Amino acid sequence: MAKYDNSFTDELRQRLSLVDVISRRIQLTKKGQNYWGCCPFHNEKTPSFSVNEEKGFYHCFGCGEHGDIISFTMKSENIDFKEAIKELADMAGIKMPEYKVKSKAQIEAEENYFQITEKATQIYQDLLYQDIGKHALEYIKNRGFSDDMIKKYRIGYAPKNNIISARFNNIKIDKLTATGLVRIGDYGPYDFFRDKLMFPIFNAHGQIVAFSGRSLDGSEPKYINTTDTELFHKRQTIFGFNFARDAIHKNNRSIIVEGQIDAIQMQMHGFPETVAPLGTALTEDHIAILCKSNRNIVFCFDGDNAGQKAAIRACTLVLPFLRENSEVKFAFVTGGKDPDEILKNQGESAMRKIIDNATPLIDFLWESVNKNYLVNTPGGRTSAEKYLKDCISKIQDKIFQNEINEEYNSRKFNQWHKWKKQEYKPDVKLPDIDVMTINLIKSIVQTYPEITEKYIDFLTSLNISFDDNVQKTSLDLENAEKFIVSFKLQRYTQKLESEKQQLLKNALNGEKYDSELLEDLNKKIEESNRKLEMLLDMNNK
Ligand code: CTP
Ligand code: MN
Repeated sequence: MAKYDNSFTDELRQRLSLVDVISRRIQLTKKGQNYWGCCPFHNEKTPSFSVNEEKGFYHCFGCGEHGDIISFTMKSENIDFKEAIKELADMAGIKMPEYKVKSKAQIEAEENYFQITEKATQIYQDLLYQDIGKHALEYIKNRGFSDDMIKKYRIGYAPKNNIISARFNNIKIDKLTATGLVRIGDYGPYDFFRDKLMFPIFNAHGQIVAFSGRSLDGSEPKYINTTDTELFHKRQTIFGFNFARDAIHKNNRSIIVEGQIDAIQMQMHGFPETVAPLGTALTEDHIAILCKSNRNIVFCFDGDNAGQKAAIRACTLVLPFLRENSEVKFAFVTGGKDPDEILKNQGESAMRKIIDNATPLIDFLWESVNKNYLVNTPGGRTSAEKYLKDCISKIQDKIFQNEINEEYNSRKFNQWHKWKKQEYKPDVKLPDIDVMTINLIKSIVQTYPEITEKYIDFLTSLNISFDDNVQKTSLDLENAEKFIVSFKLQRYTQKLESEKQQLLKNALNGEKYDSELLEDLNKKIEESNRKLEMLLDMNNK
């Protein structure tokens, strides 16, 4: 049996819903905490096969089979571990890692790498407190960093001269370049980071995999980061994660901010569960890493246009990870400030307010759709609906997907279709509708947006106020629609009748009498009555 890194099988378990996978084989229904179905491993007619989505286990009370997503796939398809992993990886849309035993050379290379980054960090840390790093120390102190914070995050100073290439002259040059700290130019090796305030980037185990250097003289770019190396992949590394990991677990959520100084200040001022992506682009991998602890994330973005865009991107990335009980929210810091400035100028409580008032993903997505599409035009609504549908389809958890779908359907109905506020002036006077019928129509409207959409013109013409909440109807969809159709026919007949009466009245008053019109009306009335009869007939069957 091939061996796989535990983290890969964990990722499969995290990424895939056990209920989804099992539902491909047998039908499951939710009862209480668990899902139930007829056991695929023994013959039964009443369900004794239970699935616990949250814990990721199934258990059959009939035959005693139990296991997880991997064993289910192996047993139900009669395939081996490797094949099951492969199939699940395909399902999750992730690549199978090639399992390789690390070679001795590789292990040695890694050891070298961490020795160099560790030693370099120490050098930078020392230099920050020497004369040469005075301006850097002054800068970071001005940004509200105490000595303790500087020590904890191991912040340092990389001087203008090539200190790494000079101090590591006993180490082979390719080992230095492998860390990204040293590059080879026309005149030999030179340091990548020069005159920078240095932030080490740690992996989850607290080893230093890379650095981020901030410019101190206002020169651009403001930050430079180690470019990807064998041991550092920017897309998979989260700044501050090593410090935040326990808190993410304990507080059952993570907060993602845009900048690394923001992340540090947040961690130091009441939000230890805060992290930042490296650079501005958040990736699916970042989210996958956080989702291993829990699926509750507060994204904290700048309130400007770029922040809104970044939030929409984050929203799209996080959708596949959502489960029924995930709490994903979006907080916006307005006024061109970032969390660091809020904490400094207005304190922790102001920041907490922003985090507490974060908008749930469902609302954020709805709001941004309403902002970005002209939803008061049919064309705009169509594009908006397409976009929403696309987003919803990204949610893997089918039950949750359905819920969201319904929620948006009802919002579309209530908010996009201003029909209920439209005035309609009937040209002929029709009898008033009785209260019971009005209530039934209201409850159908409340229950079945799809019916309302279909008969929107008719419903508008009734001049009923649909604003107040009424109970849902007990009629099923089909019968509810039948009722609306038959009522529509009745109203139509009434309208024709009243036109006929008008015509006859006019004739009596000596006006010109249009016999063709009367004939036409009679025909229509007859036809409408026949349709109604047919419909009622169908009802009785
Ligand atoms: N960043 C980067 N490269 C840049 C600019 C930014 O990698 N050229 C990353 C940094 O991690 C930075 C984050 O993007 O923290 C957000 O950028 P920005 O808002 O411009 O900077 P701040 O975090 O506000 O930086 P500071 O507070 O130090 O001015
Ligand atoms: Mn900032």
